[in-house]
Amino acid sequence: MSGGSLITLKTQPSDAANSANAAAQQQQTANGAAASSAQNVGGGNAQEGTRQNSLQRIQQRKQKVFSLPVSQKLAKLSMYSACQTEGCRCTGWKTPQENRHRDVESSYCPEFSEECRNVSCRHPLSAHIAHLDGISNSSMDELLGAIIDMENLFMSMQRVEDEDTKKVYLYLFRLLRQCVLTRQHPTIRGPLGDPPFESPCITKAVLSLVFYKFNHLNPTELQTMTEVAKTFLNFLNHYNFESPSARRGDLNHEDASNYKINYTRWLVFCHVPAFCNSLRQFETSLVFGKTLLRTVFQYMSQQLKKKCISERDRFPEDKRSIITLMPKFLEGLKAELLKDNSPIWDPNYRPPNAFVIQQRKRHQEAIPATNSGSSVVAANGKRSSAGEPVNKRAKKDVLERITENQDDLPTEVVMRAMKAVSESKTTNKAEILFPVNVSRDENVKAEEQKRAIEFHVVGNSLTKPVDKQTMLWLLGLQLVFAYQLPEMPREYISQLVFDTKHKTLALIKENQPIGGICFRPFPTQGFTEIVFCAVTMSEQVKGYGTHLMNHLKDYSIQRGIKHLLTFADCDAIGYFKKQGFSKDIKLARPVYAGYIKEYDSATLMHCELHPSIVNTQFIAVIRNQSEILKELIAQRHNEVQKVRPGLTCFKEGLPSIPVESIPGLREIGWKPQMRPARASRPLEEPSDPEKLASAFASVLQSVRQHNTAWPFLRPVTAAEVPDYYDHIKYPMDLKTMGERLKKGYYQTRRLFMADMARIFTNCRFYNSPDTEYFRCANSLERYFQTKMRELGLWDK
Ligand code: ACO
Repeated sequence: MSGGSLITLKTQPSDAANSANAAAQQQQTANGAAASSAQNVGGGNAQEGTRQNSLQRIQQRKQKVFSLPVSQKLAKLSMYSACQTEGCRCTGWKTPQENRHRDVESSYCPEFSEECRNVSCRHPLSAHIAHLDGISNSSMDELLGAIIDMENLFMSMQRVEDEDTKKVYLYLFRLLRQCVLTRQHPTIRGPLGDPPFESPCITKAVLSLVFYKFNHLNPTELQTMTEVAKTFLNFLNHYNFESPSARRGDLNHEDASNYKINYTRWLVFCHVPAFCNSLRQFETSLVFGKTLLRTVFQYMSQQLKKKCISERDRFPEDKRSIITLMPKFLEGLKAELLKDNSPIWDPNYRPPNAFVIQQRKRHQEAIPATNSGSSVVAANGKRSSAGEPVNKRAKKDVLERITENQDDLPTEVVMRAMKAVSESKTTNKAEILFPVNVSRDENVKAEEQKRAIEFHVVGNSLTKPVDKQTMLWLLGLQLVFAYQLPEMPREYISQLVFDTKHKTLALIKENQPIGGICFRPFPTQGFTEIVFCAVTMSEQVKGYGTHLMNHLKDYSIQRGIKHLLTFADCDAIGYFKKQGFSKDIKLARPVYAGYIKEYDSATLMHCELHPSIVNTQFIAVIRNQSEILKELIAQRHNEVQKVRPGLTCFKEGLPSIPVESIPGLREIGWKPQMRPARASRPLEEPSDPEKLASAFASVLQSVRQHNTAWPFLRPVTAAEVPDYYDHIKYPMDLKTMGERLKKGYYQTRRLFMADMARIFTNCRFYNSPDTEYFRCANSLERYFQTKMRELGLWDK
């Protein structure tokens, strides 16, 4: 472990005294932020302010490191990166003795040729960063962020006295260290389980309490009570829990052991991630339930009451009622916490929708005022002048979370499903050993994680020295392309692979290139041209081709490129289609003509990239989502299976009842039918027939002139297509539509749209998908919809 380098980094006095002092200060503040977690919450403003400052300084330090020159960033990364020299076990480049006092986050940048002071290594710094070749700026910053978090955790660990807390910091420190070494995202696995830990969560129970206990209040008081609930949740979400050792005396055996588990979970999932944002953060009130609240309620509510009194004068006049009502709310919550069968802790209890909607509406109306009031009481004073959370991960307003999704699936239900999916994965041992239905891409990703394969973007340069390794890989890639693309002249392949405007994404296994994509980016045109793409014969159809393409997509997106173009060989069209390419070129010809190399016997294909998709993760994400959906459907299925007692009201003399009062109907998704408001149907029906007819004429004219309209301009004749009328009973075409329009047939939008839709459905019914006709129908249909939308005639 490179603990040594951690210490030498910051604690030595520096010749650049100012910068070193600043760095040391940063370490201390980071330490302060973490260490405060182990202490009991004082609740004083001074302490809150200090914590807030610490969090800000951590962010400032990160920003400072992110804005360093690349060479300095790489030097910092080298200190936590394993030496890439074969057989070397060194896990981080160690600063030579004479430079140990210098600060790599300020002015010091060691030469890449400088030797590692680890006696068993002695390899240059460049050997520690060889694997980072071609790394994107954002990935580099992500790694640096994790390193800073790790350093903060390390320092905190030194300071903190409580043994339980120390152990958690050590565990998280090691986790981050491992993630930096392996370049993986930190994931917390193990006996702590996955959040949410209890159902219902505290947030939901507190909302239920407001309805259950205070529904009799007048609307204004009820609204204030909701504000009180929100204030309470904010306080809880920023509350520093006491360590289990400090609570030993006041909890019974069972509570003490529950508290210890929950305290550890809170540290790992809620508290530490607040200052280590490489770790995913969860909100206390959304992941914990009754068990945690019961063990902390008494002390916490005392603190909150004290805080309300001490901060009373800082509250705006009209918000003081929040403070006045707080004791009543806390009493109500305490009573429900002590009861064994309180409905607010029943996972199936749900306030009526009307209440929830009303709360949401009121909340939206009251947003500005609410922010100014309740955030003052937040236990760590986490607010900016605008009342926004200062933390980088902007947290959604708690009440918004309580009330959002009520018409949709509650967050909790989704999280429960996620938990069930992850549990079924860990319990199904047979599937771990013999994975079924695993996509090829996943196997390749597993190899990449084990570093059995690597992906590097390499290229020749005339201005900078090109290292030997790059040259060897380029030579190897040239051979792979030459073998796999025998139609291409070898000289041509060499010329492009070694051309300085071209780059190659290389797939390296046992230090040999086994596949690659040679490409040329055209940043000014916003696209990348794929020139050669190949995987060596013995490694084909294992998923490497897919993963290579996904890496290229991510690489392009990171550089602001949103389109890939290629001339695909006839045999490779299937492969490119599977990678999301299409023959339907969405780029205007002038954008690429004259830039991209054109080949006679090949087909131009295009792939549009979505900037927010991480392609190398995409398949896994979709797979996960589909598993969660399956789980949700299964859960829903179980609910629907519930048999309810028959209705007795008719026997008792009632002639009829409202449909919505039939038990279970809403639970299975029934909703009252609502007619859309007239205003939402633009230009509907004969409101203005002339205006409508002229809009239809304009759409029809544009559609006729589109370059894919030619198959639909006039009726299909039996002479041209003898069996057409055997299959198509209701033919339609653009000429007939023009005639109908002239005769005033299209009195409503629906009639016009129905005829147009018939043209396309007929075409797709009669022709197979690989025909030009079929493609024209799709393309023209999209164009028709766009035109309709432009004129406000499309309301879907
Ligand atoms: N035609 C149709 N489908 C294909 C082809 C093909 N030629 N090659 C692969 N696929 C399919 C695979 O079956 C797989 O589908 P599945 O996941 O649904 O089963 C999917 O495409 C991806 O397969 P991978 O294993 O990820 O791809 P692979 O590692 O085999 O690499 C590649 C694909 C690069 C095309 C490789 O087969 C190859 O090198 N072929 C010879 C060279 C070549 O034709 N290159 C493209 C020339 S065009 C150009 O370079 C611009």
